[in-house]
Amino acid sequence: MAARSSSSPAKTTTTLALLLVVAAAAAAVAAEAAAVAADAARGVRQVNRRGPYLGVVVPNGFEMEPLLRSPAFSPAKKLPYLDVAGRRFRFGSIGEKKVIIVMTGLGMLNSGVTTQLLLTLFDVEGIVHFGIAGNADPDLHIGDVTVPRYWAHTGLWNWQRYGDGPEKELALESNGDYTRKYGALNFSDYGVAGGGGGNLLNGVWYQPEEVFPADGTPESRRHEFWVPVDGRYYQLAQKLEAMPLERCVTAPGRRRRR
Ligand SMILES: *[C@@H]1O[C@H](CO)[C@@H](O)[C@H](O)[C@H]1NC(C)=O
Repeated sequence: MAARSSSSPAKTTTTLALLLVVAAAAAAVAAEAAAVAADAARGVRQVNRRGPYLGVVVPNGFEMEPLLRSPAFSPAKKLPYLDVAGRRFRFGSIGEKKVIIVMTGLGMLNSGVTTQLLLTLFDVEGIVHFGIAGNADPDLHIGDVTVPRYWAHTGLWNWQRYGDGPEKELALESNGDYTRKYGALNFSDYGVAGGGGGNLLNGVWYQPEEVFPADGTPESRRHEFWVPVDGRYYQLAQKLEAMPLERCVTAPGRRRRR
């Protein structure tokens, strides 16, 4: 498409501006189409007519397979799954609850991207993260029930420069970028007996996540280290206290609440 009248500069400018708007709209549609193919978009609409769902987010197949095979899960008959952006969203129900189960792959980036995709595409009222829970407390055993009040992502570190003690300010700390509030993990504390002294790894501090709440000011970050567990799920999880878990484990475990 071209501006027909080149005699009037004002008109040409208007036409160009209009063209830009049209181009921008086309780009938006194209981006949407690129993110979700037309047949997937149809599937998404179809699925959402039956919502809302509980999202079940699982890191890997090893953890997901037992859930899929469990008689507690009934796959949807009409549309059991939809593949979008390399992820398979599986629909069905667990008990009374309609669920969408999705495998993320390992790592925070994968779980973040997949969970966001789940929330963006589908009518989801809550997320349950399902999988193996590691544990560093030798008092806890398989089959024990722990109900954490908070969780933290301890994968974001700031390294203290070799030669610097813990009292030394970190680079960009005064900027509000980093903090010496959590962690203070000094590698030399974990050396083999008799190693003594420091080592080149020095120490690390755990860093809180930078968060941009949906109701906050865009680009104005907040920091969050301990994330409180949603009160509703906390109440629900507390009901597990008396639940027998013998069927989950081969050897009887002890149950306790934290
Ligand atoms: C780590 O421990 C070594 C040895 O005690 C010490 O020299 C160093 O300052 C410590 N570093 C930090 C960041 O705490």
